Amino acid sequence: MKFLISFLILLISWPPLTLGRVVEGETVLFHVKNRCPFPIWPATAPNTGHPVIADGGFYLPSGKAHRVTAPPNWNGRFWARTGCNFSSGSSPACQTGDCQSLLACNGTIGLPPATLVEVNLVADSSKPSFYDVSVVDGYNIPVAVSTVPSNPKCMIQGCKKSINSVCPQELQVLDKIKGNVVACKSACLAFNLDLFCCRNSYGKAEKCKPSMYSEMFKDACPSYFSYAFDTPTSLVACASKEYLITFCPDKWNVDHQYSM
Ligand SMILES: *[C@@H]1O[C@H](CO)[C@@H](O)[C@H](O)[C@H]1NC(C)=O
Ligand SMILES: *[C@@H]1O[C@H](CO)[C@@H](O)[C@H](O)[C@H]1NC(C)=O
Repeated sequence: MKFLISFLILLISWPPLTLGRVVEGETVLFHVKNRCPFPIWPATAPNTGHPVIADGGFYLPSGKAHRVTAPPNWNGRFWARTGCNFSSGSSPACQTGDCQSLLACNGTIGLPPATLVEVNLVADSSKPSFYDVSVVDGYNIPVAVSTVPSNPKCMIQGCKKSINSVCPQELQVLDKIKGNVVACKSACLAFNLDLFCCRNSYGKAEKCKPSMYSEMFKDACPSYFSYAFDTPTSLVACASKEYLITFCPDKWNVDHQYSM
């Protein structure tokens, strides 16, 4: 009897351990790559109920890549911070995408505007995972997402040109010293109007239409979500155990005269 009770206790306490092992075996791998001609500080933030991955942020010099593992059902976002100096004592510590002036964001999201990679992993490998790139709150640098190995259907391309170079004055975020455009706000972020944010009487797809601002974003980066009710073709559904997230993926990013 005593043995039976111990056995039952063992059975009851065992499942968490077993689950832990299964999750670890099915980890999803993100390769985060920096092709920008300047350093970046990539960051991650989980959606509610999901764990922090990669401490929420890390340093990535130009030309380098970093591996980030995530649970197979992870939901959250990746973005890049630019122009950071964590020893400057000034706040925010980063010019774009800052999270409370911390290197490791530890679960907090970044200050918009920043280009967001939104990820919704589905653990069941017979079903697709979902991901998109959003500039609904604005843009800082371009990013591309693909599966590994790559598949054209699972690819989110970068941009045809820099949104920062075509950003109208009313949306610009400037480098405080050099005065160049380092990020571009969305109209929703800049003006906080229902019309641009697709809220209240504009809270339906048929009511919230593209604006001249969102069209400017869409024209530069056709693969991204440019406003809240943008076409769902911007959302990719593909199953994979490995993904590649490349910041500044295109040749123009390297040729472009960034002054950071
Ligand atoms: C960061 O800030 C500190 C303090 O202001 C300064 O001494 C240092 O040169 C800065 N680093 C860079 C890379 O700009
Ligand atoms: C990270 O966040 C967790 C949960 O909020 C907290 O317990 C922990 O102290 C934080 N770590 C750091 C280094 O701030």
